Amino acid sequence: MVQPLLSHRLIFVTGKGGVGKTTVSLALGLAGTRRGLRTIVADMNGEGDTTERELAPGLFQTSVDPQSAMEEYLEARVPAPAAALLRNSRLFQAFAMAAPGLREMLCVGKFWDLAQSERRTSGGGPYDLVIVDAPASGHGAAILRTPRTIAEIARVGPVAHHARTIAETLLDREFTAIVAVCTAEEMPVNETLELRDALASAVDPLELEQVILNARYPDRFTPADVRRLQAARPGLDTTAVATIEVALAEAARATAQAEQEARLREAFRDRLHTLPFLFEPRLGLPEIERLAAELAA
Ligand SMILES: Nc1ncnc2c1ncn2[C@@H]1O[C@H](COP(=O)(O)OP(=O)(O)OP(=O)(O)O)[C@@H](O)[C@H]1O
Ligand SMILES: [Mg+2]
Repeated sequence: MVQPLLSHRLIFVTGKGGVGKTTVSLALGLAGTRRGLRTIVADMNGEGDTTERELAPGLFQTSVDPQSAMEEYLEARVPAPAAALLRNSRLFQAFAMAAPGLREMLCVGKFWDLAQSERRTSGGGPYDLVIVDAPASGHGAAILRTPRTIAEIARVGPVAHHARTIAETLLDREFTAIVAVCTAEEMPVNETLELRDALASAVDPLELEQVILNARYPDRFTPADVRRLQAARPGLDTTAVATIEVALAEAARATAQAEQEARLREAFRDRLHTLPFLFEPRLGLPEIERLAAELAA
């Protein structure tokens, strides 16, 4: 199902806070390795480990932070004496980190670099697939626009040229895909529709390649079951009634989710893919494998 998605080189995974972006990024990563792709999942949480570590065979993970991205950039793209001067200039560092969009641009530049078959940073192996575990929707979509903005501000010179190259790659729909993760609740669905509209209405329109509806509750009860359960309550002891109430609450939740799923289905049709809610206290690699198998099915 997500096979066409995995033919991209760079996938941005975004969505509202807590909907499962990290989980889905890792599941997509495992789906990539199943297809023999050397894959890395990169987040921009900032405090994470910026080394590229192997989580499972062929699946790597890293955190990108603007400070180390800046250092790599200076090393790779600025002539040595100037780079040393800038690196040691506190004022330059403070200015760069405060400039609007520059931090994001540095992160996006690093994601772009990871996705190049010839990587400029020494020692890094190339990846076939880079999955960006991006920040929550609004911000996640905005970071895609920063290279264009920086190119416009810088106008000419190497920074403008580099930013323009990145901006073009992000607009290349063969290379870059955007995935929205969502849960079947009203607010996340609204936000996904707003994200779609915001991406479409920009000067350089972008599209959501895939929408993942995550953590969908199972539909265990038919409407007839619900009526039967409701009718069965009178005269039962409190434990039995409590059990029925739990079942009815779950049925109500699944019904509400079905409504939200229908909204997404109408908007995204075959670009919508649903992942089940996993009833596990904690999702580890085996659970993420299960989600990866669902994605690949
Ligand atoms: N399909 C699922 N079934 C059950 N639990 C899930 C599922 N997907 C994610 N979770 C759980 O939901 C929680 C949030 O998931 P995750 O961390 O992936 O979300 P996120 O969107 O990355 O959050 P944040 O916005 O904080 O980065 C985690 O505890 C995760 O294990
Ligand atoms: Mg996360």
